[in-house]
Amino acid sequence: MYARLQAGVRYNVVRMQKSPEAVARFLVNGAAPEIGAVIRQPELAQTLELLASGGGDAFYHGAFATKLVDGVRRAGGIWTEADLRNYKVIERAPLIGSYRGARIVTAPPPSSGGVVMLDTLNILAGYDLAAAAPAMRTHLLVEAMRLAYRDRAEYLGDPDFVSVPVEQLTNPLYAAGQRAAIRPDRATPSAVLRPISTLGGDGVTTTHFSVIDRDGNRVAATVSVNLWFGSGWVAPGTGVFLNDTMDDFSVASGVPNAFQLVGADANAVGPGKRALSSMTPTFVETDKGLLIIGTPGGSTIISMVTQGVLGWLGGQSADEVVAARRIHHQYLPDRLMYEPEALSKEDLQALKAMGYELQEWSTRGNMQVITWDYPTGLVRAAADPRGFGIGLVY
Ligand code: DON
Repeated sequence: MYARLQAGVRYNVVRMQKSPEAVARFLVNGAAPEIGAVIRQPELAQTLELLASGGGDAFYHGAFATKLVDGVRRAGGIWTEADLRNYKVIERAPLIGSYRGARIVTAPPPSSGGVVMLDTLNILAGYDLAAAAPAMRTHLLVEAMRLAYRDRAEYLGDPDFVSVPVEQLTNPLYAAGQRAAIRPDRATPSAVLRPISTLGGDGVTTTHFSVIDRDGNRVAATVSVNLWFGSGWVAPGTGVFLNDTMDDFSVASGVPNAFQLVGADANAVGPGKRALSSMTPTFVETDKGLLIIGTPGGSTIISMVTQGVLGWLGGQSADEVVAARRIHHQYLPDRLMYEPEALSKEDLQALKAMGYELQEWSTRGNMQVITWDYPTGLVRAAADPRGFGIGLVY
């Protein structure tokens, strides 16, 4: 047990107390174990061996699937074996965009990450960010995020169920229209943007790996059970925590999820639908090098990765990218969040005078970055100092 995991257990302890298997493996006298305590998960070990020998089929079909479904149904859930049998991993083509000559390869729907980041970057491409004073740079970044996250709430959902206007939202001409609405001197209150439509008829966590091998093969993989320990419930005999990715759907108009995100019909709950994600595993390629980047952090993933991309393109090293202080804005709540030291006192004053509501915040970031500098051949790996990952080159 290490400090961050202990914090995760504490975060979800009330839910875990309802799961006898979670209690048995993760709690001591109903509470989070001491740091250094050893956690043993023999059922999970067996499940992993089954996966290693039988692959995904052994999980979604047969005896293991029956065990999962029986456990869920005994606990009052509505799963059926057909739900698992019919589940398919879908390989999708990545989204490809560009920013000031860099090629950006990133996550397509049902993640919103790529669309929101590319739209943000397209809006920003019309400004000379490097020449802007820090408060102005923050203002432009935030206004771009506000507009892109607004469209996330309105249009994004599972593309197998709703038509997501990806081409429009990632088109530089669309971004030019959005840019024209940004005032240089004032924050635009989110309330004056066209409100998102109402929903018809009336939301361990996430991990990112960045990997590259000697031949240049690369992986940017973000995987999620949503909040710490997902639902906090373990299907008996499996060692498997079930996720709470249902929280990534919009449940009702104006009702924010755990990450304060709101959404519309495009992301309404429906049978067989995949929930809208913010995961943004990304490659950025220029003629000088390569960046592999991603992070957990719910709604803040997209803004963190966007700032990481901008930082690297602006000359930051891998270590600097993961350590850089960050800001965040997601349309609603209409609030500019900033890490301590992300903005100077003067910049905070200037932004306040422009009309921003400001809130100091600490990110849930755990960014994992690899950079490859083509001229020198140097590869660097860096893990977010806020998190517990490590970057290794060997
Ligand atoms: O897919 C998503 O957007 C969420 N399930 C991610 C949740 C997350 O990053 C939690 N981590 N701090």
